[in-house]
Amino acid sequence: MPDRVRKAVFPAAGLGTRFLPATKAQPKEMLPIVDKPIIQYGVEEALQSGIQNIIIVTGRGKSAIEDHFDVSFELENLLETRGKKDLLAIVRGISDMINVSYVRQKEALGLGHAVLRAMELVGEEPFAVVLADDLIVAETPCLRQLLDVHSVFLAPVLAVIEMPPGAISSYGAIDAEPVHHNGSPDRVYRIRDLVEKPKPSEAPSNLAIIGRYVLTPEIFDSLQTIDPGSGGELQLTDGLRLLLRTRPIYAYRFEGTRYDAGDKLGFLKATVEFALRRHDLGGPFREYLKGLKL
Ligand code: UTP
Repeated sequence: MPDRVRKAVFPAAGLGTRFLPATKAQPKEMLPIVDKPIIQYGVEEALQSGIQNIIIVTGRGKSAIEDHFDVSFELENLLETRGKKDLLAIVRGISDMINVSYVRQKEALGLGHAVLRAMELVGEEPFAVVLADDLIVAETPCLRQLLDVHSVFLAPVLAVIEMPPGAISSYGAIDAEPVHHNGSPDRVYRIRDLVEKPKPSEAPSNLAIIGRYVLTPEIFDSLQTIDPGSGGELQLTDGLRLLLRTRPIYAYRFEGTRYDAGDKLGFLKATVEFALRRHDLGGPFREYLKGLKL
């Protein structure tokens, strides 16, 4: 089995109910943060982490994602004849750099089920999973950080963040012991158990699993063995719990800031902060915000 991670799976077949009605006829992954669709941030992170092969798991009503990463001859022609070189480069940039394949998840039967749909395209090699609505700003891309840990332990690595008290109940929490790594005593953890959406009093830690994973192909066997869990969905966490019986799994408390753009408040926070960071918009937008009587 090759050790190098060459492929990243982007599950994007969820129904996006928290963003209705905006997501009735367009995918949540295409909602823009400033002027770029959410999914493109994730694809750029994969690319900056050294992964060019992108596998997107799509569902009904998601064709805008395919169009987005496709060539648009009409648009490119128009921009070319109008001499809009900057816009042309923006439009062409990403699709020229990636190799993208699609696989369908006919029904939204859960994140585990979505990952399982990518089995044939992934094959017998380790791979990354990116949930694009977790937007991460980091000096070293979050996925690159996970890949570096994976290259040492050659085992699955899950990204975790510290949650404030009470907030852990919306996430999967890890029960884990720290492992000394690269001079740091509390970034890498070896996982003992995973608990999905624990009550705050029953949470084994305040470390929550978020949407970046490096997985090994054994996860597909686990996902094929387990039964649907909460909400009748095939849960990735349940697959990982089964895998944990036979293989070590690690967690990495990565360096960076994460925004939950799958949630309305998180989406707004990301929009404001990404706009403030922009060279072309940051100045005037900051002035505007200062003028608001809050
Ligand atoms: P979410 O839990 O955010 O669900 O899925 P959702 O359907 O996208 O959004 P809400 O909660 O209804 O508003 C986490 C990730 O897993 C993918 C989603 O597209 C998202 O990237 N997913 C989820 C699938 O691809 N298939 C599924 O069956 C479920």
